[in-house]
Amino acid sequence: MTYSKFGEKFTRQSGIGQLMTDLGHANASQHPDLCMLGGGNPAGIPAAQELFQNEMQHLIESGHFQSMLGLYDGPSGEQAFRSALAGYLNTEFGWSISPKNISLTNGSQNSFFYLFNLLAGEMPDGSSKKVLFPMAPEYVGYADAGLTDDMFKSYRPRIELLEGNQFKYRVDFDRLEIGEDIGAICLSRPTNPTGNVVSDNELARLKELAKYHAVPLIIDNAYGQPFPNVIHSNTTLNWDEDTILCMSLSKLGLPGARTGIVIANEGITHSLGALSGIITLAPNSVGAALMTRLIESGEIRHLTRDIIKPHYDACLQNALELFNDIFKDLPVRLHKPEGAFFLWFWIEGISITSQELYQRLKARNVYVIPGEEFFIDVDPNWKHTQECVRINYAQPQEKLRHGFEILAEELRLVV
Ligand SMILES: Cc1ncc(COP(=O)(O)O)c(C=O)c1O
Repeated sequence: MTYSKFGEKFTRQSGIGQLMTDLGHANASQHPDLCMLGGGNPAGIPAAQELFQNEMQHLIESGHFQSMLGLYDGPSGEQAFRSALAGYLNTEFGWSISPKNISLTNGSQNSFFYLFNLLAGEMPDGSSKKVLFPMAPEYVGYADAGLTDDMFKSYRPRIELLEGNQFKYRVDFDRLEIGEDIGAICLSRPTNPTGNVVSDNELARLKELAKYHAVPLIIDNAYGQPFPNVIHSNTTLNWDEDTILCMSLSKLGLPGARTGIVIANEGITHSLGALSGIITLAPNSVGAALMTRLIESGEIRHLTRDIIKPHYDACLQNALELFNDIFKDLPVRLHKPEGAFFLWFWIEGISITSQELYQRLKARNVYVIPGEEFFIDVDPNWKHTQECVRINYAQPQEKLRHGFEILAEELRLVV
């Protein structure tokens, strides 16, 4: 059988695909010594899980369960949820959006597939456009989401060294060029994998550049405000007609509900609805049904401020104490953790690649994510791309300690 170009592109084995298969096998093995610091799953927080269970019970008792499962929503998603969310965001941030600015998708990953291919790739006049990531490392899930090859452009960051063995990536505005071939600018904020939060100043400059070049600025807010609110830096969340803000219910604790949310101008919202109608008929209704009452009643504030945020704050505090203790004699720097639930280690001068380090750790049942794949479109000869690993810190304290100790032992052999 011969596959189409589409078939070939989307069935080809990718580095990250192989890695995810590895992590899946490791989880399925249920090995008693398994130390899984690799995946992107949100933490299972008992108080949040209980709240979701009660809400599901409420849907069953009120009869909404049947309509949730028994009816297709419109292609932009459930109207009651979109109205509740528009009202909530307007109150929280002083915006004036309506349900016509909101579309639902089957998860953010699905949103990015629609958005990237709507705004970049082969254009009707025969030219081609790319999505610009102002700096990489960036979320690896973007890397293969283009219908055509070579659809992304990105730049190395500037590295700012900070106290306490920390560092921070900054957008290198001196290098950043936005040519005719750019169709959109996109960044995750907070960033997966680094935990970076691009500052308000940097974001304002990017917004200005996007406006000047008449391209939309896509902000991936999967970890940000107002939910899940896994953000530790003091930044503001703005929206305007030229911004496309992507949110998700996944990191709130509902990745299985596959609900992505796109806040955009009415034209983009309409186009996303058209795409959704053709590609999936309608987005999943479960996440929307589960969250509508929580948003309308404002109970979501309690969930994000009193349950989710304190949980991740405590996990981070613990992870930082372990980091400062276990790696104190090693040349390991930590990206300033400002949001999301990852630690990004930079082992400057390590004599093996982070892929090789991954294999050594895997042999000892410790799983981290090697950094190479996150440097989308960055010259792989830049040594820094091989010196980083990502760790999910929202793990039980004893697992994290064990994983850090094994990592430190392996590093002593190679630095
Ligand atoms: C930055 C970022 N964006 C988007 C996604 C995709 O999330 P989902 O498709 O579950 O909404 C993830 C998942 O890990 C992520 O880390």
